[in-house]
Amino acid sequence: MSGIPHDHYEPKTGGERWLNNRLPVLGLLYDTLMIPTPKNLNWMWIWGIVLTFTLALQIVTGIVLVMHYTPHVDMAFASVEHIMRNVNGGYMLRYMHANGASLFFVAVYAHIFRGLYYGSYKAPREVTWIIGILMYLLMMGTAFMGYVLPWGQMSFHGTAVITGLFGAIPFVGEAIQTWLLGASAVGQPALNRFFSLHYLMPFIIAGLTIVHIWAFHSTGNNNPTGVEVRRTSKEEAKRDTLPFWPYFVMKDLFALAVILVIFFAVVGFMPNYLGHPDNYIQANALATPAHIVPEWYFLPFYAILRAFDSEVWLVQLVNWLSFGIIDAKFFGVLAMFGAIIVMALVPWLDTSRVRSGRYRPMFKWWFWLLAADFVILTWVGAMPTEGIYPYIALVAAAYWFAYFLVILPILGVIEKPEAMPATIEEDHLAHYDAPTRMAE
Ligand code: HEM
Repeated sequence: MSGIPHDHYEPKTGGERWLNNRLPVLGLLYDTLMIPTPKNLNWMWIWGIVLTFTLALQIVTGIVLVMHYTPHVDMAFASVEHIMRNVNGGYMLRYMHANGASLFFVAVYAHIFRGLYYGSYKAPREVTWIIGILMYLLMMGTAFMGYVLPWGQMSFHGTAVITGLFGAIPFVGEAIQTWLLGASAVGQPALNRFFSLHYLMPFIIAGLTIVHIWAFHSTGNNNPTGVEVRRTSKEEAKRDTLPFWPYFVMKDLFALAVILVIFFAVVGFMPNYLGHPDNYIQANALATPAHIVPEWYFLPFYAILRAFDSEVWLVQLVNWLSFGIIDAKFFGVLAMFGAIIVMALVPWLDTSRVRSGRYRPMFKWWFWLLAADFVILTWVGAMPTEGIYPYIALVAAAYWFAYFLVILPILGVIEKPEAMPATIEEDHLAHYDAPTRMAE
């Protein structure tokens, strides 16, 4: 697919020509900022910018935190308290960083579900999608390792539980767990390597963000209709698009400002609302907390992990067929990673020719059920595994897989899509040209 035809950078002054002949950086900046962007993008297209901003916020606050933090099992907890009490503005830095992680995940889930609804993963944007999934996995790793650093009770026992999952892998599990921890139990070697990786990984995410943006700049943005920008001539492309600067920059900055008002209200007035009080108790290997609960953004996948226990007939069947090699614990680990893998494969699992969910009457219902399913998984992930909760978790986990592996492939074949606009311009006029239409 050729790019969207648009005006390119022309150096105007002698100085610009001088630089451009040696390093065409101004041309690159111009083409990036002035990229033709579908003019019908709605408010769900703001999350990418929110994510980029949050990544920068995490890196900046993180670097300053590190100036006062000590990655040693005897000092880590005290150094965090020192940041909170003695460092100028330290409590603000820490609360921004801790709640920044939550903002990052709110934004990434909105971004992912936007993509799932409007079919942004479909050809030719599969590479953008896969890179997105890689970034999401790195985000999860980074957040997990960051949570270990304050060396509170949840840091310590959460690490034991999560690295223990790798221990469930048959034959090599124990060796992998020891390799991850750098020892046979959670301690100084684990704290050191998690600190090192927690510092490194955001920069890898930043690198991948550039590749992610490069990928969707090559294909052009998707938009709520899923109809591509016309590429036959520059004039037609101009009727479907507006340059990113100033139109979308202003829109995105406005949305970011509103989101930051909410963010700073949380940071200022309820900074510990999303955290767990046990992490304000220093790590103690001998006192295990009553309930070890991960941070909220891990709960959906944590719920899937726990849903498949040894009572489930499918788990029993697989256990029997695998001569006992795949036990309930390992099955849960496979299900948890599998839940992300099926999401990664969605470009190839969705068989519909129509991209946007807006014109797919049956798809819409199943999609909203998936969104509700995600909320239910988040909620049930925080509940104890007793009473009705394991059943709810099992049904919700089963639906997650059914959506990607059964419903999407079948829908593409049986669904009759609704009428779609022929061009983005047509859709835009239908929605935003009210004054002209009233005048007619
Ligand atoms: C650190 C994480 C991420 C950053 C910084 C980021 C950044 C961006 C930006 C700036 C855009 C363009 C604006 C927009 O569509 O909102 C975008 C588009 C996109 N992102 Fe992400 N993203 C991230 C994670 C993800 C994830 C986890 C996925 C999915 C698995 C994903 C899938 C997509 C897709 C398919 C598009 C293209 C949408 C279109 O063409 O309109 N991204 N991303």
